Amino acid sequence: MNRLTKPYSISFILLLLFFSCNTTKKSESKVEIATSFDAKVDSLMSLMTLQEKIGQTVMYSGGWTVTGPVISSHNKKYIKEGNVGAMLNVYSVKGTRDLQKMAIEETRLGIPLLFGYDVIHGFKTIFPINLGLAASWDLEDIEKGSRIAAEEASAVGIHWTFAPMVDIGRDPRWGRISEGAGEDVYLGSEIAKAYVKGFQGDDLSKHNTIIACAKHFVGYGAAQAGRDYHTVNMGEDELRNVYLPPFKATVDAGVETFMTAFNELNGVPATGNRFIFRDVLRDEWGFNGFVVTDYTAINELVPHGFAKNEKEATKIAMDAGIDMDMMSDANRLYLEELVNEGQVDVALINDACRRILLTKYKLGLFEDPYRYCNEQREKEVIYKPEFLEAARKSAAMSSVLLKNEDKALPLDNNQTIALIGPLAKDKENIIGNWAAAGDRKDKAISVYQGIKEYVNETKITYAKGCEIEGDDDSGFRAAIKAAKNADKILMVLGEDYDMSGEAASRTNIKLPGRQTDLIKAIRQAVPNKKITLVLMNGRPLDLSEEVALTDAILETWYPGTSGGLGIADVLFGSYNPSGKLPVTFPRTLGQVPIYYNMKNTGRPIPPNNPKEDYKSNYLDVPNTPLFPFGHGLSYTNFEYSDFKLSANTLGFSDTLTAYATITNTGDYDGYEVVQLYVHDKVGSITRPVKELKGFKKVFLKKGESHTVSFDLTVEDLKFYNNEIFTVEPGEFEIAIEGSSDFDFEHIFTLE
Ligand code: GLC
Repeated sequence: MNRLTKPYSISFILLLLFFSCNTTKKSESKVEIATSFDAKVDSLMSLMTLQEKIGQTVMYSGGWTVTGPVISSHNKKYIKEGNVGAMLNVYSVKGTRDLQKMAIEETRLGIPLLFGYDVIHGFKTIFPINLGLAASWDLEDIEKGSRIAAEEASAVGIHWTFAPMVDIGRDPRWGRISEGAGEDVYLGSEIAKAYVKGFQGDDLSKHNTIIACAKHFVGYGAAQAGRDYHTVNMGEDELRNVYLPPFKATVDAGVETFMTAFNELNGVPATGNRFIFRDVLRDEWGFNGFVVTDYTAINELVPHGFAKNEKEATKIAMDAGIDMDMMSDANRLYLEELVNEGQVDVALINDACRRILLTKYKLGLFEDPYRYCNEQREKEVIYKPEFLEAARKSAAMSSVLLKNEDKALPLDNNQTIALIGPLAKDKENIIGNWAAAGDRKDKAISVYQGIKEYVNETKITYAKGCEIEGDDDSGFRAAIKAAKNADKILMVLGEDYDMSGEAASRTNIKLPGRQTDLIKAIRQAVPNKKITLVLMNGRPLDLSEEVALTDAILETWYPGTSGGLGIADVLFGSYNPSGKLPVTFPRTLGQVPIYYNMKNTGRPIPPNNPKEDYKSNYLDVPNTPLFPFGHGLSYTNFEYSDFKLSANTLGFSDTLTAYATITNTGDYDGYEVVQLYVHDKVGSITRPVKELKGFKKVFLKKGESHTVSFDLTVEDLKFYNNEIFTVEPGEFEIAIEGSSDFDFEHIFTLE
């Protein structure tokens, strides 16, 4: 076996390394080229200086998109010195190639850069926001949408997306609830896996796959009062039963990277939290990718009051197991000094550098650092018609029909329509927040444009009515006139896209501005005409007033680049709405937090008995939400019948199968999301009143019936009881339903 057996000159080793790392063809050499990635990393690291290893742990922003406070704009000098391992917010073939060329040709070892970007729900072709995608409950479609996002992003030189965001969100005040999959652990975990598979594909060495990043680890969605970046405090039972599982699901799906959360968790900021990053992520879960901080999060340990200065913060983060520093400029400034002072063990830097280099090898960047830089592909891939068509379908599938009285919907294209509202012709907000390089001027299809695919524009009268925000009602008159002269009224209202997303929490979750007054004015003007409310918003809203003023409500979230077409497909019945809420809509903010699987308490209110003394209820509103988790109507009706179990008991090594027959008893073919819920009646800690444990999306033609089955094992019933993950014998209630709004009728016993 030929080995490096005698002290070769450094130039020969470099030459050897250069060929082993950078040539696109197998180089013939007398010395066996390291084959496995680990061996290659070993040989490369054996040549690297401490400063160069630290360089791999540094990420700067190219400043093409500002996603946080820019404290030190990117400096090409650092790249040339080998002080940079990754860049974010640079997204074009030319932009990435120029910087990559600098790293390859002007540094001592020619180590390629990673390019990362927030490709959250699309890159150029923007899909519905993630809370909307979650409402589709369609894992295949979610995977397909993120695959398309990866196709477009990789075509412009991006290797890495800072997605999926898998934070459980149960507080509608929190603006980032828009980026996740809502309130439920099971749904959130299944969707998390779909995103990772879509982004990473089945082979990271392919030039159209990108590495994913599970964020923000952990507990970010539990920020006190829904205020972004705010304090998070929770028991280990809630952490392990609610907030950790979706992240574990991404590890099981092979996610390559993790990102730290900004928040503290029980007094320890995530970016300095050894428990979550070393004990849980590495030791318990065996995660072997790398961890990047969120934007400037190392430096933020100082204002957190967890580090006395940024140098100490740097030590804390490295000790906690954080591998890469996004935009704090802390690792570059302090790590070498900390090592030389004996404050940081150089082994930690070696570990971090190794993980990052391994990822670069997996992506094939050493073999061909320009494999993602192909102008021809950039031209061919972006906005492919099939991508825009897929986004249209996702928009339709993500829409949730909250209300539809007296068949207000679907619309008849022979009728005249008054199209009213600040979002009716909108092309800017429709693609929502975190819309990457999506176009907010021309490319998006507005609701108005979508409707014109179904109705001749002579039948559509548009009136803006009012702005999203502000006190001006001077547009009401024209809107009222339009309503009086039309058969049907379609109002497209909601939030501005930057009223949700990062640093966008609201203390008021009602429609902003004079929009609700506009509905009141229209209702007063045409008391007997059907009014349909189409909503674009990034969070659950308090719709208590609107639900009483309108005949139909369609929740479309922010439906994306093809959103107007997808919404029109639903409004006119080409697509029978099948969306189900992934998050509870409260009657009022005063109920928050409110979600379907809360605890029963010792003084529960029986569902049908809202008023009793000394019960856990409010004086002024019922305990029930306005629209519950899993709620969503169809233009048809689905009847559930013939529930049965394969047995009434479940042994620890058995599988129990639950069956139900679903029949489409209405006039439209359509999809129904069939949901399986259980309730562990007694536990060594109290258990939620319901837990989603399965769902299946079935298509039924009108009149058709289908028997749906779900298998359950003890693995599905495990929970953390503040000591261990366990499952305990006893009675479980079980149900197969079309939403979380039901009472259990069936029981099985775990023996
Ligand atoms: C932001 C966000 C994070 C994003 C990162 C890079 O602050 O918290 O989700 O991925 O910075 O843009």
